[in-house]
Amino acid sequence: MFEEKAGIVFNKEVAHRTYYMGLRSPRIAGAARPGQFVMLRVTDGIDPLLRRPFSICRVEGDGLFCILYRIVGKGTAIMSKTGEGERLSALGPLGRGFKLPPAGGRSLLVAGGIGIAPLIFLAQIIDKGDMAFLSGYRSAGEIVPTDQVGVGSGISIATDDGTAGHRGPVTELLKGHAEGAGEGRPIVFACGPLPMLKEVAALTTHWRIPCQVSLETSMACGVGACQGCSVRGSSGHEMPYHHVCQDGPVFDANALDWKSL
Ligand SMILES: Cc1cc2nc3c(=O)[nH]c(=O)nc-3n(C[C@H](O)[C@H](O)[C@H](O)COP(=O)(O)OP(=O)(O)OC[C@H]3O[C@@H](n4cnc5c(N)ncnc54)[C@H](O)[C@@H]3O)c2cc1C
Ligand code: FES
Repeated sequence: MFEEKAGIVFNKEVAHRTYYMGLRSPRIAGAARPGQFVMLRVTDGIDPLLRRPFSICRVEGDGLFCILYRIVGKGTAIMSKTGEGERLSALGPLGRGFKLPPAGGRSLLVAGGIGIAPLIFLAQIIDKGDMAFLSGYRSAGEIVPTDQVGVGSGISIATDDGTAGHRGPVTELLKGHAEGAGEGRPIVFACGPLPMLKEVAALTTHWRIPCQVSLETSMACGVGACQGCSVRGSSGHEMPYHHVCQDGPVFDANALDWKSL
């Protein structure tokens, strides 16, 4: 884990209230693994005081790490107004990321909204041979143009309102892929809103296929010091509680007590 002032290289709006930011920090970029995150201080002032967590969505060889974020409140609104040449205090990489699938294994990546961010990094790393990337949004205006964030084409889209791709939740696309053709058991990797993750966990439990989920709870410290990110472990699991910031944010779906989330 490193703490440094990372220089903003770019910060551009890529979809409705959604920004793609590149920050220069060779140490954070060099150590980052898919599913890990950074805590960013969005201002030198005291409001907001706490750092904000963001998944690392891409790294580049020249010491750049990128994040993809949606404006939801004060901190992200301030970030959207920053630009090239400014610096943000960054702490990272933090947490435990995705366990990578075996070479040649079948992977199903399932994203809901801005939850696509850590999966973009995962898609960069894993074998693309047998990977399906499924991405759900509320509406077409929110779709992240993945060619601008380095993933290219081949992502299946679902929208709640039917303005692009399949009309309906992304879990309907998942059902088609998991039950459809293809050799070998897939591994599902998911990140998105809690109701979506609950559905993905229930489906993969029913199908008896492995699933890793990335959780986005509120976080105050990001390093295990405040207890603010605790979630209950599943009954019978060795850990009654997990700290999302240290034990996660990526968990095996069967390690969590979904009813309490
Ligand atoms: C490990 C991790 C990775 C994350 N990765 C990303 C990412 O890649 N891109 C991205 O856009 N966001 C990501 N988030 C969520 C992001 O941290 C919050 O959106 C951000 O902190 C909001 O800050 P704010 O000051 O703008 O909003 P605030 O003023 O703090 O909050 C505004 C509203 O958003 C809600 N909110 C805040 N944080 C969260 C959260 N974690 N989950 C659900 N609702 C929340 C608040 O309850 C409130 O209603 C991640 C969170 C975690 C824990
Ligand atoms: S955010 Fe403080 S312990 Fe996890």
